[in-house]
Amino acid sequence: MTGTVNIIDGKAFAANLRAEVGRKVGLLNSRHGITPGLAVVLVGENPASQVYVRNKARQTQSAGMNSYEHRLGADTSEAQLLELVDELNCDPAVNGILVQLPLPDQIREAAVINAINPDKDVDGFHISNAGLLATGGQGLVACTPLGCLMLLKDRLGDLSGLRALVLGRSNIVGKPMAHLLLGENCTVTIAHSRTRDLADECRRADILVAAVGRAQMVPGDWIKPGATVIDVEINRIDAGAGKTRLVGDVDFDSAVKVAGAITPVPGGVGPMTIACLLLNTLTATCRQHGVEIPE
Ligand SMILES: NC(=O)c1ccc[n+]([C@@H]2O[C@H](COP(=O)([O-])OP(=O)(O)OC[C@H]3O[C@@H](n4cnc5c(N)ncnc54)[C@H](OP(=O)(O)O)[C@@H]3O)[C@@H](O)[C@H]2O)c1
Repeated sequence: MTGTVNIIDGKAFAANLRAEVGRKVGLLNSRHGITPGLAVVLVGENPASQVYVRNKARQTQSAGMNSYEHRLGADTSEAQLLELVDELNCDPAVNGILVQLPLPDQIREAAVINAINPDKDVDGFHISNAGLLATGGQGLVACTPLGCLMLLKDRLGDLSGLRALVLGRSNIVGKPMAHLLLGENCTVTIAHSRTRDLADECRRADILVAAVGRAQMVPGDWIKPGATVIDVEINRIDAGAGKTRLVGDVDFDSAVKVAGAITPVPGGVGPMTIACLLLNTLTATCRQHGVEIPE
C-alpha cells in the first residue's frame, strides 16, 4: 500500500459507533428498564471546555442516555467540588461521571479524579482504572487511546508482533495507549522529550501514535513506508491572511505519501473520543446493574 492515499475516516467510524451505542441503549431500556446517565462537571469558563461539554451533552442525549450538566464558578474550592463528586457517586441515576479538565489552579486534579467512584470513572483516569489497565485487569479505559486502538484494529486486524511507537507519555493518552498496544501483543516503545534519536525510533515503527502537541513535528521521512499513523493531536496554526487551520503532530501532506494508512486532522481521532465516552458510559451502566451489554 506504500505510496497510496489511505486515509482513516475517524468521523465515519465514530458516527457508526455512536449509532451502535444508541441501539444498545435502546435494548437496555426495553429489556431491563435502565437508562444510562452521564454527569459532566465543568468548573470555570474555559472556552474550549465549554464547547466539549456542550458536544458531550448533545451526543449523550442523541444516544438515548440521560445527560446531567453541572456548571460551577471559576472560584469553586476543591472541597466544594469534592462534595459534588460525592453526591454524584451516591446518585443511582448517574452511571458515569466526567470532570472536565483542566481545573482552576486552586483545585488538585488528581485529588478530584481519585475521588470519583472508579466504577463511574468513564474517563478512565482514576488510579484504579489506570492500574487495572497496566496489570491486564478489567476497568474503564481512557477514551482517546481506546478510540485510537479501535481505529488500529479496524484497519490492521491482529496487531500481534507489530512494532509500535507511542510518541508522548502523558497519563491520559501516551501511557494508556502503550498499555493497550502491549495488551494486543505489540512490541511497544514510548518516546518523549528526552528521547535521543526520535527520527530513528519513528522509522522503525509499524504503528506510530503521536500525542505530543507540537504542530507538524513528524515529517514524512520519519515514517516507515506502509506504517499506520494515528495522529491524536489537534493544533491550531496560523494559515496567513488572519486565518487559522487545524493540524496534527504529523505533517500530513508528506506523511500521507509514505504511510500505509493515516488519520487526518480534523476528522481522525477527535470524533472517536466522545464516541468512546458514550461506549464507556454504557459499559459502566451494565456493570453497575450486573447485566450483559445487549447485542
Ligand atoms: N483528539 C482528542 O480527542 C484528544 C484527546 C486528548 C488529548 N488530545 C491532545 O493530545 C495532546 C497530547 O495530550 P497529552 O495530555 O498526552 O499532552 P501532554 O501531557 O502535554 O504530553 C505531551 C507529551 O509529549 C512529549 N513531548 C513534548 N515535546 C516533545 C518533543 N519535542 N519530542 C518528543 N516528545 C515530546 C512530552 O514529553 P515529556 O513527558 O518528556 O515532557 C509529553 O510526554 C494534547 O495536546 C491534547 O490537546 C487530543
